[in-house]
Amino acid sequence: MRLKIAVLAGDGIGPEVTREATNILRAVAELGGHEFTFVEGLLGGVAITATGSPLPTATLDAALDSDAVLLGAVGDNKFNALPPDKRPEAGLLQIRQALGGFANLRPSIAYKALSASSPLRPEVTENVDILFVRELLGGLYFGAPREWNKETNEAINTMRYTRDEVVRVARVAFELAGKRRKKVTSVDKANVLEVSQLWRATVTEVAKDYPGVTLEHQLVDSMAMHIMNTPRNFDVVLTENLFGDILSDEAGVITGSLGMLPSATIGGAVNLYEPVHGSAPDIAGTGKANPLGAILTAAMVLRHSANLEQDARAVEQAVHQVLDAGYRTADIARGSQAGQQTVTTQEMGKRVHQALTESIDRRQSMHAV
Ligand code: IPM
Ligand code: MN
Repeated sequence: MRLKIAVLAGDGIGPEVTREATNILRAVAELGGHEFTFVEGLLGGVAITATGSPLPTATLDAALDSDAVLLGAVGDNKFNALPPDKRPEAGLLQIRQALGGFANLRPSIAYKALSASSPLRPEVTENVDILFVRELLGGLYFGAPREWNKETNEAINTMRYTRDEVVRVARVAFELAGKRRKKVTSVDKANVLEVSQLWRATVTEVAKDYPGVTLEHQLVDSMAMHIMNTPRNFDVVLTENLFGDILSDEAGVITGSLGMLPSATIGGAVNLYEPVHGSAPDIAGTGKANPLGAILTAAMVLRHSANLEQDARAVEQAVHQVLDAGYRTADIARGSQAGQQTVTTQEMGKRVHQALTESIDRRQSMHAV
């Protein structure tokens, strides 16, 4: 298996967590005899500082020429005063658009070992396994017109969706639900917004092609509450762009930390992989960042771009094992609980690497006999 991966580590903790993720990918390649090559590029604040643009042409070309793009994080307080289209985040939105992936998959699962890291009671989070399918190329993020008119003191953003944009992302949600617990919860604000009425009507229509999957609709405000009260009721949660942005951060509470959440964006020319967390400039370079979101994102690269399902699971299993053994980065450490050890970003990466190597070795020696 050959795979060319563009690595855009970005700002803040991006580079340190991405390093641990690429180490894991290198280990999988080496142990399985695969050829993974890595090409680095600048994106976000580091790109603005170096070139003046948050998405330099060289980065875009490298990304389009790769089989998968692995992103760290973008965002730097230094650029807070700039308008949205000049900020580091603009580079992220531009590359999402250029790569064309419209379905952003954000799994949110509860780890048994982390039940004390969530403010929710263990009996609420137990066995939670939600997959958000967030539409990534439409809605308020990209709709025109958009402007802040300083003369009239008026600002405008546009929430716009076409039927086709809803159909294609809904199909992804139903396909995935078919392989899981066969339920799709579609989120909207159909009691107020025309866009949501189109969304609801279209999703209802698409559902007819998937008779084995149950569809329910939830209004986004009550959904925000249900995710905290009864997270176990949800399987695949389908949302438009901004609702998915908000609800997927909320779902980080179930796992215990946003630092645990991976994502993959599929459906375009090149798949894009990024942890859900941001650049966390306050802890950059301190060794406190949690690399598990990035490492689990690497597992999604294996699953969705390399078709190495077994290796993807081995990485996820290795993460479970390291958490079960009591290793914690600062964000998921809870006091001085017995049997727990707070480790740095790098040490956490090393532990996962070790657990993974052992499990792949075991698998290979089983095949050898
Ligand atoms: C995310 C982030 C981005 C988004 C920002 C950094 C533009 O919050 O991936 O969830 O809003 O999509
Ligand atoms: Mn977000």
